[in-house]
This record gives sequence, C-alpha cells and structure tokens, in this order.
Amino acid sequence: MALWGGRFTDSSADSAFALSCSIEFDWRLAPYDIRSSLAHVAVLESSGLLTPTDAGAIRQGLKELAEEVNAGKFIPQANDEDVHSALERGLTEKLGPLGGALRAGRSRNDQVTTDLRLFSIDHMLEVGSMITTLQSAILEKAAQYINDSAPGFTHIQHAQPVSFGHELAKHAHAFARDLDRINDWLDRTSVSSLGAGALAGSSLPLDPAFTAVNLGFASSFANSIDAVSDRDYVAEALFIFSLIGIHLSRIGQEWTLWASTEFAWAEVSDAYSTGSSIMPQKKNPDIAELARGKSGRLLGNLVSVLTMLKALPFAYNRDLQEDKEPLFDSIDTLLLLLPAVAGMIATTEFDREKMAMAAPLGFTLATEIADYLVLKKIAFAQAHEAAGSCVKLCQSTNRQLHELTDSEFLAIHSALDPGVRMVLSVEGALHSRTTAGGTAPVLVAKQIADALAANAGQAALITRAQKVFREMMAS
Ligand code: ARG
Repeated sequence: MALWGGRFTDSSADSAFALSCSIEFDWRLAPYDIRSSLAHVAVLESSGLLTPTDAGAIRQGLKELAEEVNAGKFIPQANDEDVHSALERGLTEKLGPLGGALRAGRSRNDQVTTDLRLFSIDHMLEVGSMITTLQSAILEKAAQYINDSAPGFTHIQHAQPVSFGHELAKHAHAFARDLDRINDWLDRTSVSSLGAGALAGSSLPLDPAFTAVNLGFASSFANSIDAVSDRDYVAEALFIFSLIGIHLSRIGQEWTLWASTEFAWAEVSDAYSTGSSIMPQKKNPDIAELARGKSGRLLGNLVSVLTMLKALPFAYNRDLQEDKEPLFDSIDTLLLLLPAVAGMIATTEFDREKMAMAAPLGFTLATEIADYLVLKKIAFAQAHEAAGSCVKLCQSTNRQLHELTDSEFLAIHSALDPGVRMVLSVEGALHSRTTAGGTAPVLVAKQIADALAANAGQAALITRAQKVFREMMAS
C-alpha cells in the first residue's frame, strides 16, 4: 500500500518500486516500529489530538499486530514498500480509517531513524553481552597458563620470554576498549528523533521530550533537521563493529599460526575444527580463519555507510535507506562470530612443554645479559653490544647463551662475571619483569583477576540495560 497518492496520476513503475522497496530487509524493524508508534499514540492522546477511545483502539490494534508479527501471522505483501507502510496497512485492515491517524505529526523520516536507533541499541547490547562472554573465555583460558612460558614475538621473531597467560590475556584488553566504546556509543545514541516530523518539527501540539521518555531515551533531539538526517550512530556502530572484527581477526591469525604443524602449540578442539573432504588426516582451524576473514565485510559495511553519507545534503534523502543492510549484516556477522570464537578459545588446549622449550630459543634471554650489565652501571649501548657479542659467539659455535663458559663471558666484557648465569633462565627472566603490567607471573595473575572483576561489572551493567530495554519494549 502506497502512503501517498493524492497528487499522483500514475502508480510507480515496477522497476522503480522494486528499487525503492526496502521491505525485504527492514521488516525486522517491525517490533521497534510498533513500539515507537505506541509512543506516538501516547503523545497524540496526551495533547488531545486523539480521543482516549480512539487512542485505546489504536493501542489495542498495535498490540494485536505485534503479536501477529511475532507469530508470523501478519507478514508483508508484495506491494508493501517498507516496514512502515506494511504496518500501517495492517492497522488499517483492523481499524479502518483510524489506522491512518498515526501519521499526524509524524513522517517516515523521523519514524525510521527512531526505529533504527531502538534496533541498534537493542543489538549493541547483545553484541556487548557476547563480548563480555568472549572476554571471560579469554581470561579464564589465560589463567590456566600464567606459569607457563613461551617466546613472545616482535616481527614474528622470538623476542623475549613471556608468561603464556600474559600472551592470551592481552586480547581481553582490546575487547575491554570495545566495551568502553559501546558504553560511549550507548550514551550518545540515547536521543529520540521522534517529533522531528519530515524535517521541520510540527505545528501540532506534540512534545518530543514526552515520547523520548516513553521510549527510554535519555533525551530528545535539539535540531529537527539534524534529527532526521543524522546517521552518525550507524557509522559509529559500524566502526565499533569493524574494530571488534579486527580484534577477532588478530585472534584468528594467532590461532591458525599456533595450530600449524610448524608451531604445534595449540590443539583446537574437534568441535571447533573441520576436516577435509579429500585429505583424511586434516584438521583445519576454520573458525579461526573465519574470525580473520569476516573482518573484511565488517570493514566494508563501515566504508559503505560512510561513503553514502559523504556530502549528503540535509535533510532526508532516500540514500539514507542504504544505512540498514550494512548495519544488519555487521550485527548478524558478529552475533554468529562471537559465540563461535568464545567456544573455540574455551576449548583450545596448549602444549605447555613445547612452548616452554621454545621460550629460550632464538636467544630470547639476550636482553637479560644487557640488563645485568646495566645493573652493574654499564651504559646500555655497551651492554647491548656485549650481549650481541655473546649471541654472535653462540651462533658461530652452535650453542645457547647459558652454554658459554665463564671465561668466554669475561672475555666479552669484564663485568660479565659468573653471576650472569642467574639471569640466564626463562624462569628468572619471567619473574624479574615486575614493572606494572609486565610478564612476571605474579603480576599476570593480578592483571587477570582485575580484568575478570571489570568484566563481571561490565556484564552486570549490560544485563541491567537489557532488562530495562526489554521492559520498555513490552510496555
Ligand atoms: N524506507 C525508508 C528508509 O529506510 C523510510 C523513509 C522514507 N521516507 C521518505 N521520505 N521516502 O529510509
């Protein structure tokens, strides 16, 4: 059913309708559209534009419609252009002309962005909740490996030994920043657009602040032209989702590497691996690969919306309809990806012995020699040089640093007395790195405990916000 007609002689060409139709993808906004319509009924009634009887009938009609939509009994038809027109048809089928009363003081322009904000808030909370689950999976896994050593890398070359718990826990901190961004986004997005009308507000005695409160928004728009044109919240959400995707891709890359035969550190559980149709021996880390691969579409969706918004004139333009599919796709992608990655992490086992054996390889303790000399008041540049000479000697004689003799050490630098052997163990190196945030296991244990506590607080906040949102939707 078209929402206009008076000034038109001809109906839309099939190709024009097919292009402008958004019902295939915006139908999922139906529950939010019905809820914002309920808020609009309330404001029309409170301002005397609808009688209590008519308002009651519309409210009843909307509630029935919500149930029918939910049960799949009311579905869009081929000639419904979008979710708004389909639901108005549904209401009109129930109530006759009264079904059209909701258009007073409201345009699809303020309606669609109000719906989309509600949808986005609901789903941002769901993404946030899944991130807290992922974070705790990471931290709990990390806690199992606090006292296990592994080589830490720079340039994918062995650099210095680290606690493997430290290595795993780092990912939880990236997600903590994502949660911070989600919190900021929620604050900024909690602004109602309802009442902005087509662009200029309304001559009817409506109160946008009233509908804002009714819908659980913290405030209402300040400028009606901005209110109907603003999609910053979509772009920002897509940026947050992209960064989450990039964080997941970095996990995916590490997991694929660690599961390779060359590393053989990670044993990914069967439940999160796949086999090959031709090579019977294969066990592939596909979930990790998809965690890496899906980041492409998340980033693409962000670029798509930013490009659509670039230089777009104010106020509403139909271009804005292109905001939805990228947003929906990014949300759907993350809702699939996050639980799978959390499960993969929770069920991966690491080969402690193999990692410990690798920890000193590649002369990862060379920095300890330099630091030992610095403690003996040798300038770092000379200390670095001396430690480098130790590495060179080991390389040319095919030995490890601790295999150099006392006299060889002394020949390299007079301050390299036998005491240096104390620092030439992975264990010693790990325990000595006690600066804040460092890899000493005692500190790693504290980092993980602090992060788990923050994670629990964050999860509780999200659960509470979800409860408030669900109550608003049901009211
Ligand atoms: N389906 C449209 C969208 O998503 C709804 C708004 C249409 N407004 C209009 N003035 N044509 O943006």
